[in-house]
Amino acid sequence: MPIHLLPTELINQIAAGEVVERPASVVKELIENAIDAGATTIDVLLENGGKQKIEVRDDGWGMSRADAVLAIERHATSKIRDFDDLTRVRTLGFRGEALPSIASVSRFLLTTSDGASAEATEIECDPLTGTRAVRPAARDRGTTIVVRELFENVPARRKFLRSSDAEFRSIVTVVSSYALPFPSRAFRLEHNGRVVLDLPPAASDRDRVIQVIGADIEPSLTAIEAAIGDVSAHGFATRGLRFGSRRNQYFFVNGRLVKDRVLTHAASRAADAFDDDGHPAIVLFLELPPAQVDVNVHPAKTEVRFRDSSHVHVAVEQGIRRALAGAEEGGALLTSSDPQPMQIRSAGPEQPYLLAPQPLALPVPPSTAQFTPLFRRQAMVQPPLATALATDAAPLADAEAPPDLGDLRGRIIGQYRMSYILLDTPGGLRLVDQHVAHERVLFDRCFARIEKHEPASQQLLTPILYDAGAAESAVLESHVEELRAVGFDIERFSGNAFAIAALPPELVRGDVGNFLRKLIDASIDEKSPHLYRVREKVCASLACQAAIKVHRTLGGEEMARLVAELLDSSNPFACPHGRPIIVDIKHIDIERHFHRK
Ligand SMILES: Nc1ncnc2c1ncn2[C@@H]1O[C@H](COP(=O)(O)OP(=O)(O)OP(=O)(O)O)[C@@H](O)[C@H]1O
Ligand SMILES: [Mg+2]
Repeated sequence: MPIHLLPTELINQIAAGEVVERPASVVKELIENAIDAGATTIDVLLENGGKQKIEVRDDGWGMSRADAVLAIERHATSKIRDFDDLTRVRTLGFRGEALPSIASVSRFLLTTSDGASAEATEIECDPLTGTRAVRPAARDRGTTIVVRELFENVPARRKFLRSSDAEFRSIVTVVSSYALPFPSRAFRLEHNGRVVLDLPPAASDRDRVIQVIGADIEPSLTAIEAAIGDVSAHGFATRGLRFGSRRNQYFFVNGRLVKDRVLTHAASRAADAFDDDGHPAIVLFLELPPAQVDVNVHPAKTEVRFRDSSHVHVAVEQGIRRALAGAEEGGALLTSSDPQPMQIRSAGPEQPYLLAPQPLALPVPPSTAQFTPLFRRQAMVQPPLATALATDAAPLADAEAPPDLGDLRGRIIGQYRMSYILLDTPGGLRLVDQHVAHERVLFDRCFARIEKHEPASQQLLTPILYDAGAAESAVLESHVEELRAVGFDIERFSGNAFAIAALPPELVRGDVGNFLRKLIDASIDEKSPHLYRVREKVCASLACQAAIKVHRTLGGEEMARLVAELLDSSNPFACPHGRPIIVDIKHIDIERHFHRK
Protein backbone atom coordinates (compact mmCIF):
# COMPACT_ATOMS: atom_id res chain seq x y z
CA MET A 1 0.00 0.00 0.00
CA PRO A 2 1.39 3.44 -0.88
CA ILE A 3 2.07 5.83 1.96
CA HIS A 4 -0.47 8.59 2.51
CA LEU A 5 -1.22 11.16 5.20
CA LEU A 6 -4.15 10.36 7.44
CA PRO A 7 -7.12 12.74 7.49
CA THR A 8 -7.38 14.97 10.60
CA GLU A 9 -10.54 13.27 11.87
CA LEU A 10 -8.85 9.90 11.83
CA ILE A 11 -5.75 11.30 13.53
CA ASN A 12 -8.00 12.70 16.26
CA GLN A 13 -9.80 9.41 16.68
CA ILE A 14 -6.51 7.58 17.00
CA ALA A 15 -5.37 10.10 19.61
CA ALA A 16 -8.73 9.74 21.33
CA GLY A 17 -7.97 6.05 21.74
CA GLU A 18 -5.18 6.98 24.12
CA VAL A 19 -6.71 9.98 25.84
CA VAL A 20 -10.33 8.88 26.10
CA GLU A 21 -10.76 5.35 27.29
CA ARG A 22 -14.11 5.69 29.02
CA PRO A 23 -16.55 8.30 30.37
CA ALA A 24 -14.35 8.82 33.43
CA SER A 25 -11.46 9.91 31.21
CA VAL A 26 -13.68 12.55 29.57
CA VAL A 27 -14.71 13.82 33.00
CA LYS A 28 -11.07 13.89 34.07
CA GLU A 29 -9.98 15.98 31.07
CA LEU A 30 -12.88 18.42 31.38
CA ILE A 31 -12.35 18.89 35.12
CA GLU A 32 -8.65 19.49 34.53
CA ASN A 33 -9.50 22.17 31.97
CA ALA A 34 -11.93 23.81 34.39
CA ILE A 35 -9.34 23.80 37.18
CA ASP A 36 -6.70 25.23 34.82
CA ALA A 37 -9.19 27.97 33.88
CA GLY A 38 -9.38 29.04 37.54
CA ALA A 39 -12.95 27.85 38.08
CA THR A 40 -14.21 28.01 41.66
CA THR A 41 -17.35 25.97 41.02
CA ILE A 42 -17.33 22.85 38.87
CA ASP A 43 -20.55 20.97 38.16
CA VAL A 44 -20.60 17.57 36.50
CA LEU A 45 -23.92 16.19 35.26
CA LEU A 46 -24.25 12.66 33.95
CA GLU A 47 -26.78 10.43 32.33
CA ASN A 48 -26.36 6.68 32.44
CA GLY A 49 -22.89 6.60 33.86
CA GLY A 50 -21.79 9.23 31.34
CA LYS A 51 -22.39 6.88 28.41
CA GLN A 52 -25.33 8.96 27.23
CA LYS A 53 -24.34 12.38 28.45
CA ILE A 54 -21.55 14.14 30.33
CA GLU A 55 -21.84 17.82 31.02
CA VAL A 56 -19.16 19.84 32.80
CA ARG A 57 -19.91 23.46 33.72
CA ASP A 58 -17.39 25.85 35.15
CA ASP A 59 -17.14 29.50 36.12
CA GLY A 60 -13.54 29.88 34.98
CA TRP A 61 -12.17 32.58 32.70
CA GLY A 62 -13.72 31.08 29.58
CA MET A 63 -12.61 31.70 26.01
CA SER A 64 -13.05 34.30 23.31
CA ARG A 65 -14.60 33.07 20.08
CA ALA A 66 -11.24 32.87 18.32
CA ASP A 67 -9.77 30.84 21.19
CA ALA A 68 -12.78 28.53 21.35
CA VAL A 69 -12.44 27.72 17.67
CA LEU A 70 -8.74 27.00 18.17
CA ALA A 71 -9.31 24.96 21.34
CA ILE A 72 -10.86 22.10 19.41
CA GLU A 73 -7.98 21.95 16.97
CA ARG A 74 -5.32 19.38 17.58
CA HIS A 75 -2.17 20.54 19.39
CA ALA A 76 -3.78 23.86 20.29
CA THR A 77 -3.04 24.92 23.84
CA SER A 78 -2.68 28.09 25.86
CA LYS A 79 -0.59 26.32 28.48
CA ILE A 80 2.87 25.89 26.97
CA ARG A 81 4.81 27.64 24.21
CA ASP A 82 8.12 25.82 23.98
CA PHE A 83 10.02 22.84 25.30
CA ASP A 84 11.27 24.74 28.32
CA ASP A 85 7.69 25.42 29.37
CA LEU A 86 7.12 21.70 29.34
CA THR A 87 9.81 21.25 31.98
CA ARG A 88 8.16 23.73 34.31
CA VAL A 89 4.51 23.06 33.57
CA ARG A 90 2.23 23.86 36.50
CA THR A 91 -1.10 23.42 34.74
CA LEU A 92 -2.84 20.04 34.61
CA GLY A 93 -3.16 20.12 30.81
CA PHE A 94 -0.40 20.93 28.34
CA ARG A 95 -0.75 18.57 25.37
CA GLY A 96 -3.52 20.43 23.56
CA GLU A 97 -5.32 17.27 22.54
CA ALA A 98 -8.07 16.56 25.04
CA LEU A 99 -10.86 18.60 23.43
CA PRO A 100 -10.24 17.54 19.79
CA SER A 101 -9.95 13.93 20.92
CA ILE A 102 -13.24 14.02 22.82
CA ALA A 103 -14.95 15.92 19.99
CA SER A 104 -13.91 13.25 17.51
CA VAL A 105 -15.67 10.43 19.38
CA SER A 106 -18.85 12.09 20.68
CA ARG A 107 -21.55 14.63 19.92
CA PHE A 108 -19.73 17.60 21.34
CA LEU A 109 -21.12 20.98 22.31
CA LEU A 110 -19.03 23.76 23.81
CA THR A 111 -20.46 27.02 25.13
CA THR A 112 -18.07 29.59 26.50
CA SER A 113 -17.75 33.22 27.44
CA ASP A 114 -14.72 35.14 28.60
CA GLY A 115 -16.94 37.81 30.16
CA ALA A 116 -15.27 40.51 28.03
CA SER A 117 -16.63 39.78 24.54
CA ALA A 118 -20.06 41.08 23.61
CA GLU A 119 -21.52 37.64 23.19
CA ALA A 120 -20.74 34.09 24.16
CA THR A 121 -19.86 31.35 21.66
CA GLU A 122 -21.32 27.96 20.99
CA ILE A 123 -19.54 25.32 18.92
CA GLU A 124 -21.15 22.06 17.92
CA CYS A 125 -19.14 19.22 16.42
CA ASP A 126 -20.60 16.27 14.58
CA PRO A 127 -18.23 13.31 14.77
CA LEU A 128 -19.87 11.52 11.86
CA THR A 129 -19.46 14.31 9.31
CA GLY A 130 -16.61 16.17 11.01
CA THR A 131 -18.56 19.43 10.59
CA ARG A 132 -18.37 22.23 13.13
CA ALA A 133 -21.04 24.87 13.62
CA VAL A 134 -20.00 28.09 15.38
CA ARG A 135 -22.86 30.23 16.71
CA PRO A 136 -23.31 33.17 19.02
CA ALA A 137 -24.78 32.27 22.41
CA ALA A 138 -25.60 33.80 25.77
CA ARG A 139 -24.03 32.84 29.09
CA ASP A 140 -22.03 34.23 32.00
CA ARG A 141 -18.28 33.97 32.11
CA GLY A 142 -17.22 30.34 32.09
CA THR A 143 -17.44 27.24 29.96
CA THR A 144 -19.88 24.37 29.57
CA ILE A 145 -19.05 21.29 27.59
CA VAL A 146 -21.63 18.65 26.78
CA VAL A 147 -20.49 15.27 25.51
CA ARG A 148 -23.28 13.02 24.24
CA GLU A 149 -23.22 9.42 23.03
CA LEU A 150 -19.57 8.72 23.65
CA PHE A 151 -18.07 6.36 21.04
CA GLU A 152 -21.29 6.29 19.03
CA ASN A 153 -19.15 6.50 15.91
CA VAL A 154 -16.59 3.95 17.19
CA PRO A 155 -18.73 0.90 18.02
CA ALA A 156 -15.66 -1.20 18.71
CA ARG A 157 -14.85 1.04 21.64
CA ARG A 158 -18.40 1.52 22.85
CA LYS A 159 -18.57 -2.24 23.25
CA PHE A 160 -15.85 -2.09 25.86
CA LEU A 161 -17.74 0.27 28.12
CA ARG A 162 -18.88 -1.27 31.36
CA SER A 163 -22.33 -1.06 32.92
CA SER A 164 -23.63 2.43 33.68
CA ASP A 165 -23.17 1.72 37.37
CA ALA A 166 -19.53 0.76 36.97
CA GLU A 167 -18.77 3.74 34.74
CA PHE A 168 -20.57 5.99 37.20
CA ARG A 169 -18.44 4.71 40.07
CA SER A 170 -15.23 5.43 38.16
CA ILE A 171 -16.47 8.97 37.63
CA VAL A 172 -17.24 9.38 41.33
CA THR A 173 -13.62 8.44 42.00
CA VAL A 174 -12.33 10.97 39.47
CA VAL A 175 -14.45 13.85 40.80
CA SER A 176 -13.71 13.15 44.45
CA SER A 177 -10.00 12.73 43.70
CA TYR A 178 -9.76 16.11 41.98
CA ALA A 179 -11.61 17.73 44.84
CA LEU A 180 -8.87 16.72 47.29
CA PRO A 181 -6.04 19.06 46.21
CA PHE A 182 -8.41 22.00 45.61
CA PRO A 183 -10.37 22.39 48.85
CA SER A 184 -11.42 25.97 48.20
CA ARG A 185 -13.27 25.02 45.03
CA ALA A 186 -16.78 23.60 44.97
CA PHE A 187 -17.50 20.34 43.16
CA ARG A 188 -20.90 18.85 42.45
CA LEU A 189 -21.84 15.66 40.68
CA GLU A 190 -25.32 14.82 39.48
CA HIS A 191 -26.32 11.44 38.07
CA ASN A 192 -29.63 10.96 36.27
CA GLY A 193 -31.01 14.10 37.88
CA ARG A 194 -29.88 13.33 41.45
CA VAL A 195 -27.09 15.09 43.26
CA VAL A 196 -24.68 12.37 44.32
CA LEU A 197 -21.68 14.43 45.39
CA ASP A 198 -21.86 17.89 46.85
CA LEU A 199 -18.61 19.37 48.04
CA PRO A 200 -18.90 23.03 49.01
CA PRO A 201 -15.63 24.92 49.53
CA ALA A 202 -13.80 23.50 52.56
CA ALA A 203 -11.81 25.56 55.04
CA SER A 204 -8.69 23.39 54.87
CA ASP A 205 -7.06 20.40 53.20
CA ARG A 206 -8.02 18.37 56.22
CA ASP A 207 -11.69 19.35 56.02
CA ARG A 208 -11.78 18.41 52.35
CA VAL A 209 -10.27 15.00 53.10
CA ILE A 210 -12.99 14.42 55.70
CA GLN A 211 -15.68 15.59 53.24
CA VAL A 212 -14.45 13.14 50.63
CA ILE A 213 -13.54 10.08 52.67
CA GLY A 214 -16.08 10.41 55.47
CA ALA A 215 -16.48 11.90 58.92
CA ASP A 216 -15.75 8.60 60.65
CA ILE A 217 -12.09 8.84 59.70
CA GLU A 218 -11.67 12.12 61.53
CA PRO A 219 -10.48 10.74 64.87
CA SER A 220 -7.81 8.65 63.21
CA LEU A 221 -6.62 11.23 60.69
CA THR A 222 -2.99 12.22 61.22
CA ALA A 223 -0.87 14.59 59.24
CA ILE A 224 1.92 13.44 56.94
CA GLU A 225 4.88 15.81 56.94
CA ALA A 226 8.24 15.02 55.41
CA ALA A 227 10.80 16.94 53.46
CA ILE A 228 14.04 15.75 51.96
CA GLY A 229 15.94 18.37 50.02
CA ASP A 230 13.46 20.02 47.71
CA VAL A 231 11.02 17.09 47.79
CA SER A 232 8.22 17.53 50.26
CA ALA A 233 5.46 15.08 51.08
CA HIS A 234 2.48 16.18 53.07
CA GLY A 235 -1.08 15.07 53.49
CA PHE A 236 -3.03 12.75 55.74
CA ALA A 237 -3.27 9.10 56.71
CA THR A 238 -5.57 7.17 59.02
CA ARG A 239 -3.77 5.79 62.03
CA GLY A 240 -5.36 2.60 63.34
CA LEU A 241 -8.18 2.62 60.78
CA ARG A 242 -7.73 0.42 57.74
CA PHE A 243 -9.81 -0.44 54.70
CA GLY A 244 -10.22 -3.63 52.70
CA SER A 245 -8.74 -2.12 49.54
CA ARG A 246 -6.53 0.78 48.48
CA ARG A 247 -9.49 2.75 47.22
CA ASN A 248 -8.93 5.47 49.82
CA GLN A 249 -5.34 6.07 48.79
CA TYR A 250 -4.73 9.11 46.60
CA PHE A 251 -1.39 10.37 45.36
CA PHE A 252 -0.81 13.77 43.83
CA VAL A 253 2.37 15.10 42.32
CA ASN A 254 2.36 18.90 42.13
CA GLY A 255 -1.43 18.80 42.28
CA ARG A 256 -1.75 16.16 39.56
CA LEU A 257 -3.51 12.89 40.38
CA VAL A 258 -1.14 10.07 39.44
CA LYS A 259 -0.87 6.33 39.51
CA ASP A 260 2.73 5.69 40.30
CA ARG A 261 4.46 2.56 41.48
CA VAL A 262 7.19 4.37 43.36
CA LEU A 263 4.57 6.13 45.46
CA THR A 264 2.30 3.13 46.01
CA HIS A 265 5.26 0.97 46.88
CA ALA A 266 6.57 3.49 49.39
CA ALA A 267 3.10 3.72 50.93
CA SER A 268 2.75 -0.07 51.16
CA ARG A 269 6.12 -0.40 52.83
CA ALA A 270 5.19 2.25 55.32
CA ALA A 271 1.85 0.56 56.05
CA ASP A 272 3.38 -2.93 56.22
CA ALA A 273 5.71 -1.79 58.99
CA PHE A 274 2.73 -2.06 61.35
CA ASP A 275 0.80 -5.07 62.44
CA ASP A 276 -2.62 -4.01 61.20
CA ASP A 277 -4.36 -5.75 58.32
CA GLY A 278 -5.74 -3.80 55.39
CA HIS A 279 -4.85 -0.44 53.94
CA PRO A 280 -4.89 2.94 55.65
CA ALA A 281 -6.54 5.86 53.89
CA ILE A 282 -3.77 8.05 52.50
CA VAL A 283 -4.01 11.40 50.79
CA LEU A 284 -0.52 12.37 49.79
CA PHE A 285 0.57 15.58 48.13
CA LEU A 286 4.08 15.43 46.81
CA GLU A 287 5.64 18.71 45.85
CA LEU A 288 8.90 18.94 43.97
CA PRO A 289 10.44 21.29 41.41
CA PRO A 290 8.72 20.63 38.04
CA ALA A 291 12.10 20.01 36.45
CA GLN A 292 12.53 16.93 38.65
CA VAL A 293 9.50 15.15 37.33
CA ASP A 294 8.55 14.32 33.77
CA VAL A 295 4.79 14.62 33.40
CA ASN A 296 4.76 13.87 29.69
CA VAL A 297 5.04 10.10 29.97
CA HIS A 298 1.56 9.01 29.00
CA PRO A 299 -1.19 10.64 26.88
CA ALA A 300 -3.65 10.45 29.78
CA LYS A 301 -1.08 12.28 31.98
CA THR A 302 -1.75 9.93 34.90
CA GLU A 303 1.80 8.64 35.03
CA VAL A 304 4.97 10.53 35.84
CA ARG A 305 8.67 9.77 35.87
CA PHE A 306 10.84 11.05 38.71
CA ARG A 307 14.37 12.12 38.04
CA ASP A 308 15.43 10.74 41.43
CA SER A 309 12.89 8.15 42.44
CA SER A 310 14.74 6.81 45.47
CA HIS A 311 14.74 10.28 46.97
CA VAL A 312 10.99 10.46 46.47
CA HIS A 313 10.56 6.94 47.83
CA VAL A 314 12.36 7.76 51.07
CA ALA A 315 10.44 11.01 51.60
CA VAL A 316 7.10 9.34 51.04
CA GLU A 317 7.82 6.24 53.08
CA GLN A 318 9.20 8.27 55.92
CA GLY A 319 6.30 10.72 55.91
CA ILE A 320 3.65 8.01 55.95
CA ARG A 321 5.45 5.82 58.46
CA ARG A 322 5.79 8.67 60.90
CA ALA A 323 2.14 9.53 60.52
CA LEU A 324 1.08 5.92 61.09
CA ALA A 325 3.38 5.52 64.07
CA GLY A 326 2.15 8.65 65.79
CA ALA A 327 4.20 11.47 67.20
CA GLU A 328 5.64 9.49 70.09
CA GLU A 329 7.40 6.92 67.92
CA GLY A 330 8.00 8.99 64.84
CA GLY A 331 11.52 10.18 65.62
CA ALA A 332 14.18 7.98 64.16
CA LEU A 333 12.51 5.86 61.54
CA LEU A 334 14.37 6.49 58.34
CA THR A 335 16.84 9.04 57.22
CA SER A 336 17.60 10.14 53.72
CA SER A 337 21.13 8.80 54.05
CA ASP A 338 19.69 5.36 54.73
CA PRO A 339 17.37 4.60 51.86
CA GLN A 340 16.07 1.06 51.88
CA PRO A 341 16.86 -0.84 48.71
CA MET A 342 13.82 -0.49 46.56
CA GLN A 343 12.21 -3.52 45.07
CA ILE A 344 9.01 -2.99 43.26
CA ARG A 345 6.86 -5.99 42.72
CA SER A 346 4.94 -6.01 39.52
CA ALA A 347 1.65 -4.37 40.23
CA GLY A 348 -0.82 -7.22 40.07
CA PRO A 349 -4.54 -6.57 40.17
CA GLU A 350 -5.68 -5.89 43.67
CA GLN A 351 -7.73 -8.64 45.27
CA PRO A 352 -11.26 -7.53 45.89
CA TYR A 353 -11.80 -8.13 49.57
CA LEU A 354 -15.15 -9.81 49.42
CA LEU A 355 -15.40 -11.45 46.09
CA ALA A 356 -12.21 -13.27 45.50
CA PRO A 357 -10.16 -13.95 48.58
CA GLN A 358 -7.17 -16.16 48.23
CA PRO A 359 -8.23 -19.77 48.42
CA LEU A 360 -7.24 -21.39 51.65
CA ALA A 361 -3.76 -22.76 51.17
CA LEU A 362 -3.86 -26.26 52.51
CA PRO A 363 -0.60 -27.98 53.23
CA VAL A 364 -0.08 -30.75 50.75
CA PRO A 365 2.62 -33.10 51.98
CA PRO A 366 5.08 -34.17 49.33
CA SER A 367 4.14 -37.48 47.85
CA THR A 368 6.84 -39.96 48.67
CA ALA A 369 6.90 -43.74 49.00
CA GLN A 370 6.46 -43.68 52.77
CA PHE A 371 4.04 -40.81 52.88
CA THR A 372 0.48 -40.98 51.58
CA PRO A 373 -1.06 -37.62 50.76
CA LEU A 374 -4.03 -37.07 53.00
CA PHE A 375 -5.51 -34.09 51.23
CA ARG A 376 -6.86 -33.95 47.75
CA ARG A 377 -7.61 -30.30 47.69
CA GLN A 378 -9.11 -29.71 44.28
CA ALA A 379 -11.82 -32.21 44.87
CA MET A 380 -13.05 -30.47 47.98
CA VAL A 381 -14.06 -27.18 46.46
CA GLN A 382 -17.08 -26.63 44.32
CA PRO A 383 -17.58 -23.46 42.33
CA PRO A 384 -19.21 -20.69 44.32
CA LEU A 385 -22.87 -20.15 43.66
CA ALA A 386 -22.32 -17.16 41.40
CA THR A 387 -19.92 -18.97 39.12
CA ALA A 388 -22.15 -21.98 39.01
CA LEU A 389 -25.13 -19.91 37.92
CA ALA A 390 -23.47 -17.45 35.57
CA THR A 391 -24.24 -18.49 32.04
CA ASP A 392 -20.86 -17.54 30.67
CA ALA A 393 -18.95 -19.09 33.55
CA ALA A 394 -15.68 -20.54 32.44
CA PRO A 395 -15.35 -24.21 33.27
CA LEU A 396 -13.43 -24.64 36.49
CA ALA A 397 -9.84 -25.44 35.79
CA ASP A 398 -8.98 -29.03 36.55
CA ALA A 399 -12.41 -29.58 38.08
CA GLU A 400 -12.85 -33.13 39.21
CA ALA A 401 -16.11 -34.89 39.87
CA PRO A 402 -17.92 -33.20 42.75
CA PRO A 403 -17.13 -34.79 46.06
CA ASP A 404 -19.60 -37.10 47.61
CA LEU A 405 -21.34 -35.47 50.51
CA GLY A 406 -21.59 -38.74 52.37
CA ASP A 407 -23.18 -38.41 55.75
CA LEU A 408 -22.10 -34.94 56.62
CA ARG A 409 -23.61 -35.18 60.05
CA GLY A 410 -21.42 -38.07 61.00
CA ARG A 411 -20.55 -38.04 64.65
CA ILE A 412 -19.16 -34.85 66.03
CA ILE A 413 -15.89 -35.64 67.76
CA GLY A 414 -15.18 -32.13 68.91
CA GLN A 415 -13.57 -28.87 68.00
CA TYR A 416 -10.00 -28.47 66.81
CA ARG A 417 -8.13 -25.28 67.66
CA MET A 418 -11.43 -23.60 68.48
CA SER A 419 -11.90 -23.17 64.75
CA TYR A 420 -12.74 -26.48 63.08
CA ILE A 421 -15.46 -29.00 63.84
CA LEU A 422 -14.19 -32.59 63.64
CA LEU A 423 -16.52 -35.29 62.38
CA ASP A 424 -16.20 -39.02 62.24
CA THR A 425 -17.97 -39.88 58.94
CA PRO A 426 -18.33 -43.15 57.06
CA GLY A 427 -15.66 -41.94 54.62
CA GLY A 428 -13.13 -40.88 57.23
CA LEU A 429 -12.24 -37.82 59.22
CA ARG A 430 -13.89 -34.57 58.20
CA LEU A 431 -12.94 -31.02 59.23
CA VAL A 432 -15.48 -28.25 58.88
CA ASP A 433 -14.27 -24.66 59.09
CA GLN A 434 -16.77 -23.12 61.48
CA HIS A 435 -16.51 -19.58 60.14
CA VAL A 436 -16.96 -20.37 56.47
CA ALA A 437 -19.63 -22.96 57.22
CA HIS A 438 -21.64 -20.37 59.09
CA GLU A 439 -21.03 -17.86 56.31
CA ARG A 440 -22.56 -20.27 53.80
CA VAL A 441 -25.60 -20.82 56.02
CA LEU A 442 -26.17 -17.10 56.60
CA PHE A 443 -25.60 -16.31 52.94
CA ASP A 444 -28.26 -18.78 51.85
CA ARG A 445 -30.69 -17.46 54.43
CA CYS A 446 -30.15 -13.90 53.33
CA PHE A 447 -30.42 -14.74 49.65
CA ALA A 448 -33.64 -16.65 50.21
CA ARG A 449 -35.09 -13.62 51.97
CA ILE A 450 -34.38 -11.42 48.99
CA GLU A 451 -35.79 -13.91 46.54
CA LYS A 452 -38.97 -14.32 48.57
CA HIS A 453 -39.24 -10.56 49.12
CA GLU A 454 -39.34 -11.17 52.85
CA PRO A 455 -36.83 -8.89 54.48
CA ALA A 456 -36.21 -9.58 58.16
CA SER A 457 -35.65 -6.45 60.19
CA GLN A 458 -35.03 -5.51 63.73
CA GLN A 459 -35.93 -1.94 64.67
CA LEU A 460 -33.27 0.01 66.52
CA LEU A 461 -34.08 2.09 69.58
CA THR A 462 -32.12 4.99 68.18
CA PRO A 463 -31.28 5.13 64.49
CA ILE A 464 -27.63 4.82 63.54
CA LEU A 465 -26.18 7.68 61.55
CA TYR A 466 -23.56 6.53 59.08
CA ASP A 467 -21.52 9.30 57.53
CA ALA A 468 -20.13 7.77 54.41
CA GLY A 469 -18.01 10.49 52.88
CA ALA A 470 -18.84 11.90 49.50
CA ALA A 471 -17.32 9.22 47.32
CA GLU A 472 -18.67 6.32 49.36
CA SER A 473 -22.13 7.75 49.73
CA ALA A 474 -22.58 7.79 45.98
CA VAL A 475 -21.80 4.07 45.89
CA LEU A 476 -23.91 3.31 48.93
CA GLU A 477 -26.83 5.14 47.38
CA SER A 478 -26.73 2.75 44.44
CA HIS A 479 -27.14 -0.20 46.85
CA VAL A 480 -29.97 1.19 48.94
CA GLU A 481 -32.62 -0.97 47.28
CA GLU A 482 -30.66 -4.18 47.87
CA LEU A 483 -29.96 -3.20 51.46
CA ARG A 484 -33.69 -2.69 52.01
CA ALA A 485 -34.35 -6.06 50.46
CA VAL A 486 -32.26 -7.78 53.15
CA GLY A 487 -33.86 -5.86 55.99
CA PHE A 488 -32.18 -2.48 56.28
CA ASP A 489 -34.34 0.55 56.87
CA ILE A 490 -31.92 3.02 55.40
CA GLU A 491 -32.24 6.39 53.79
CA ARG A 492 -30.15 9.36 52.95
CA PHE A 493 -30.39 11.70 55.89
CA SER A 494 -28.53 14.83 54.96
CA GLY A 495 -25.42 15.47 52.92
CA ASN A 496 -23.47 12.23 52.95
CA ALA A 497 -25.06 10.80 56.09
CA PHE A 498 -27.44 7.85 56.01
CA ALA A 499 -29.94 7.14 58.76
CA ILE A 500 -30.41 3.48 59.59
CA ALA A 501 -33.54 2.73 61.63
CA ALA A 502 -33.63 -1.07 61.31
CA LEU A 503 -31.13 -3.82 60.56
CA PRO A 504 -31.21 -7.42 59.43
CA PRO A 505 -31.14 -9.53 62.61
CA GLU A 506 -27.65 -10.87 61.85
CA LEU A 507 -26.19 -7.41 62.10
CA VAL A 508 -27.81 -6.18 65.26
CA ARG A 509 -24.80 -7.04 67.35
CA GLY A 510 -22.34 -6.44 64.54
CA ASP A 511 -20.39 -3.46 63.38
CA VAL A 512 -22.65 -1.82 60.83
CA GLY A 513 -20.02 0.67 59.72
CA ASN A 514 -17.61 -2.14 59.01
CA PHE A 515 -20.25 -4.03 57.05
CA LEU A 516 -21.05 -1.01 54.90
CA ARG A 517 -17.39 -0.20 54.34
CA LYS A 518 -16.68 -3.74 53.14
CA LEU A 519 -19.69 -3.67 50.87
CA ILE A 520 -18.43 -0.44 49.32
CA ASP A 521 -14.92 -1.89 48.97
CA ALA A 522 -16.33 -4.84 47.08
CA SER A 523 -18.55 -2.66 44.90
CA ILE A 524 -15.77 -0.38 43.86
CA ASP A 525 -13.60 -3.31 42.86
CA GLU A 526 -16.43 -4.92 40.94
CA LYS A 527 -16.26 -4.17 37.23
CA SER A 528 -19.73 -4.99 35.94
CA PRO A 529 -22.27 -5.44 38.64
CA HIS A 530 -25.28 -7.36 37.52
CA LEU A 531 -28.28 -7.18 39.85
CA TYR A 532 -27.62 -10.77 40.82
CA ARG A 533 -24.04 -9.91 41.71
CA VAL A 534 -25.15 -6.93 43.78
CA ARG A 535 -27.53 -9.09 45.80
CA GLU A 536 -24.86 -11.66 46.19
CA LYS A 537 -22.44 -9.03 47.39
CA VAL A 538 -24.84 -7.68 49.99
CA CYS A 539 -25.54 -11.19 51.25
CA ALA A 540 -21.88 -12.18 51.20
CA SER A 541 -20.90 -9.09 53.19
CA LEU A 542 -23.65 -9.71 55.67
CA ALA A 543 -22.73 -13.35 56.07
CA CYS A 544 -19.04 -12.60 56.46
CA GLN A 545 -19.71 -9.95 59.05
CA ALA A 546 -22.18 -11.94 61.12
CA ALA A 547 -20.65 -15.43 60.92
CA ILE A 548 -19.09 -17.06 63.96
CA LYS A 549 -15.42 -16.25 63.94
CA VAL A 550 -12.58 -18.73 64.25
CA HIS A 551 -10.90 -19.09 67.66
CA ARG A 552 -14.27 -19.32 69.36
CA THR A 553 -15.29 -22.25 71.49
CA LEU A 554 -18.53 -23.86 70.33
CA GLY A 555 -20.82 -26.02 72.44
CA GLY A 556 -21.90 -29.47 71.25
CA GLU A 557 -25.34 -28.29 70.34
CA GLU A 558 -24.06 -25.28 68.46
CA MET A 559 -21.78 -27.51 66.43
CA ALA A 560 -24.57 -29.97 65.68
CA ARG A 561 -26.91 -27.23 64.57
CA LEU A 562 -24.31 -25.61 62.36
CA VAL A 563 -23.41 -28.91 60.68
CA ALA A 564 -27.08 -29.73 60.13
CA GLU A 565 -27.75 -26.33 58.61
CA LEU A 566 -24.69 -26.64 56.43
CA LEU A 567 -25.99 -29.94 55.13
CA ASP A 568 -29.19 -28.18 54.05
CA SER A 569 -27.40 -25.32 52.36
CA SER A 570 -27.06 -24.77 48.62
CA ASN A 571 -23.38 -25.69 48.60
CA PRO A 572 -21.84 -27.19 51.73
CA PHE A 573 -18.44 -27.31 50.08
CA ALA A 574 -17.70 -23.68 49.36
CA CYS A 575 -18.52 -20.40 51.04
CA PRO A 576 -19.94 -17.53 48.99
CA HIS A 577 -16.41 -16.30 48.32
CA GLY A 578 -15.33 -19.67 46.97
CA ARG A 579 -13.34 -20.74 50.01
CA PRO A 580 -13.54 -24.42 50.92
CA ILE A 581 -15.65 -25.31 53.94
CA ILE A 582 -14.82 -28.96 54.29
CA VAL A 583 -11.65 -30.98 54.21
CA ASP A 584 -11.90 -34.76 54.13
CA ILE A 585 -9.16 -37.08 55.21
CA LYS A 586 -10.18 -40.42 53.84
CA HIS A 587 -10.16 -43.32 56.21
CA ILE A 588 -8.31 -45.40 53.66
CA ASP A 589 -5.55 -42.80 53.55
CA ILE A 590 -5.29 -42.83 57.32
CA GLU A 591 -5.05 -46.63 57.28
CA ARG A 592 -2.43 -46.56 54.57
CA HIS A 593 -0.47 -43.96 56.43
CA PHE A 594 -0.22 -46.29 59.41
CA HIS A 595 0.60 -49.24 57.13
CA ARG A 596 -2.65 -50.98 57.96
CA LYS A 597 -3.56 -51.32 54.30
N1 LIG B 1 -13.03 24.95 30.60
C1 LIG B 1 -12.18 25.75 29.94
N2 LIG B 1 -12.10 27.07 30.26
C2 LIG B 1 -11.24 27.89 29.60
N3 LIG B 1 -10.43 27.48 28.61
C3 LIG B 1 -10.46 26.19 28.26
C4 LIG B 1 -11.34 25.26 28.90
N4 LIG B 1 -11.16 24.06 28.33
C5 LIG B 1 -10.20 24.21 27.40
N5 LIG B 1 -9.78 25.49 27.34
C6 LIG B 1 -8.74 26.03 26.44
O1 LIG B 1 -8.65 25.16 25.35
C7 LIG B 1 -7.31 24.67 25.21
C8 LIG B 1 -7.35 23.26 24.71
O2 LIG B 1 -7.85 22.39 25.71
P1 LIG B 1 -7.36 20.89 25.74
O3 LIG B 1 -7.87 20.22 26.95
O4 LIG B 1 -7.67 20.30 24.42
O5 LIG B 1 -5.79 21.03 25.82
P2 LIG B 1 -4.88 21.38 27.08
O6 LIG B 1 -5.67 21.47 28.31
O7 LIG B 1 -4.09 22.57 26.71
O8 LIG B 1 -3.91 20.12 27.11
P3 LIG B 1 -4.32 18.58 27.43
O9 LIG B 1 -4.58 17.92 26.14
O10 LIG B 1 -3.11 18.08 28.11
O11 LIG B 1 -5.53 18.64 28.27
C9 LIG B 1 -6.68 24.85 26.56
O12 LIG B 1 -5.28 25.03 26.46
C10 LIG B 1 -7.39 26.08 27.10
O13 LIG B 1 -6.75 27.26 26.65
MG1 LIG C 1 -6.92 19.93 28.87
